[in-house]
Amino acid sequence: CGIIGYTGPLDSKKILLEGLSQLEYRGYDSAGIALCMENSRIHLVRHTGKVSNLKKGCEEINQVSHCGLGHTRWATHGGVTTENTHPHRAGRVILVHNGIIENYHQLTTEFHLEGKLLSETDSEVAAWVLESLYDGDPVKAIAELVKHLKGSYSFCMMFEDHPGEIYAIRNVSPLVAAYTHSGSFVASDLTALIPYTRQYFVVPEDHILRLTSYKVHLYGLDLKELEPEILEVNWNMDAAMKNGFPHFMLKEIHEQPDALKNTILPRLAKGLPDFTDDLIPDFVFEDCDQVHIIACGTAMHAGMAARALMEPLLRIPVTVSIASEFRYEDPLVNDRTIVIIISQSGETIDTLAALRLAKSYGSKTLSVVNVKGSTIARESDYVLYTHAGPEIAVASTKAYSVQLAALYMVCCRMALVRGKYSVEEAEDFMKKLLDSIPAMEAMIEKKDTVKALVTHLINKPDAFFIGRGLDYAFSLEGALKLKEISYIHAEAYAAGELKHGTIALITQEVPVIAIATQENVFSKTISNIREVKARGAFVILLTKESLNVDPGIADIQINIPDIGDRFTVFPIAVVLQLIAYYASVGKNLDVDQPRNLAKSVTVE
Ligand code: G6P
Repeated sequence: CGIIGYTGPLDSKKILLEGLSQLEYRGYDSAGIALCMENSRIHLVRHTGKVSNLKKGCEEINQVSHCGLGHTRWATHGGVTTENTHPHRAGRVILVHNGIIENYHQLTTEFHLEGKLLSETDSEVAAWVLESLYDGDPVKAIAELVKHLKGSYSFCMMFEDHPGEIYAIRNVSPLVAAYTHSGSFVASDLTALIPYTRQYFVVPEDHILRLTSYKVHLYGLDLKELEPEILEVNWNMDAAMKNGFPHFMLKEIHEQPDALKNTILPRLAKGLPDFTDDLIPDFVFEDCDQVHIIACGTAMHAGMAARALMEPLLRIPVTVSIASEFRYEDPLVNDRTIVIIISQSGETIDTLAALRLAKSYGSKTLSVVNVKGSTIARESDYVLYTHAGPEIAVASTKAYSVQLAALYMVCCRMALVRGKYSVEEAEDFMKKLLDSIPAMEAMIEKKDTVKALVTHLINKPDAFFIGRGLDYAFSLEGALKLKEISYIHAEAYAAGELKHGTIALITQEVPVIAIATQENVFSKTISNIREVKARGAFVILLTKESLNVDPGIADIQINIPDIGDRFTVFPIAVVLQLIAYYASVGKNLDVDQPRNLAKSVTVE
């Protein structure tokens, strides 16, 4: 969910609605705002569907307000209805919430809330508990409230008898805040604050915020006031705008070559990967017997590709876990394990919980994170920031390729310090990694070729992605991309595994996207392609220019430039992203905000 709060001299309705549009990628089931009016009355407007519906609903508000809260919802408790839309009103309290209150049922009984609740949400329960505890001192009541709650939250609140003020608190779910000449702001992420300020601070966990129109006060749960630690934004508003592209996703696909340069070049010293500025000492890579990679979604797929690269090279076990599984597995990690956590947002709650668990086992933790100052970055022993800039499209593209670039550099450094690579071999590896940047550019230029091929996909219910080794790891991401934005059912298979069951689904014209860029398994993959072709599949083959493919094997063939086998993921990722993108556009779907999804999942 997305949260924004503003108090100051400007028109709060305008700021909240603009902020919600920026935050919409965090959830778009419904949206609402609460405005503090001149007579101190608080006016709520809430609508199901996108922020555009809310904007229409706000058109008739003529009175200017200088203080308010906004929320865009990704439904967890209760369906998509106006009643379940935030903000919630509970007596004098107005509240918006991101997260899940697990003991809401118990609290309903404990605080005798039956009969008072108008929604099915856990959030409204929290609002009423706060109202019950409130005796005129908001900070005290909030500190008291959180003692009663189990779960995850960031809350922003207004109190009808404290006009012009906004209060907030968070545990795991993120919040950032800023005070400027134009007023004070709080939001669930920076994109909403960027138009007004370059300086901000991350609200620390379990701290209470009080925003007045000229200052943001920060209190510990002991009610003592503290000074926030101010950070500077390192990207500008342009990065969060479409800049002439029809969709954020297409813009972000185009940004990948630059994002890769920004991630790789500052860490290159004499042609070798160097993490001195990231404060990652070599002993982290030396003193370990195994690597355990943990992430969710696309980030997990970056981990799968990294595993396929690392294990054969480093000759130590490299395991990839889905964060939500790792948490409950009693995992085999210890103080000789380096745990690599991958997360674009740095806030995914399952990934964060996995990080904490790994630390409790004594493992060294290194996170690969895109958002500066995020919780995962702050809690890991070491952090390697990717420099993709803000990623707005829900389907991840540039964050994936920079995660890979960072992991490739880690792999190279590890090989070097563990004696698996000579200096010359490491230099050669880095040179090839850099070669992948023009290869990506070449594939972006071929976008019209990809656009043309989606006619063979968009009317099909299913598609299969196959490959071996690294190519299999890439195909996992290709299938995820296609299903999340085109709603075509897509599955990725290790090419050799298809014949053990799934081949039963291959009939006339079923699209099979075959990735064959790895020379060591090329002929084997080609045999698997022949098997599906023999059953009528429509084969789209992604391969390298130099690899010879017999005529008739593929219906469509796309060649990526000749780069080292280990690095083909970069141009291949572009092709897979473009296939998904044009399939979604071809089906006239909402590319940047596909149904049921959210960019940053801060619930378990
Ligand atoms: C959500 C997004 C995915 C993303 C995953 C992990 O499901 O829709 O695109 O890969 O979360 O997010 P993270 O921020 O941890 O990389």
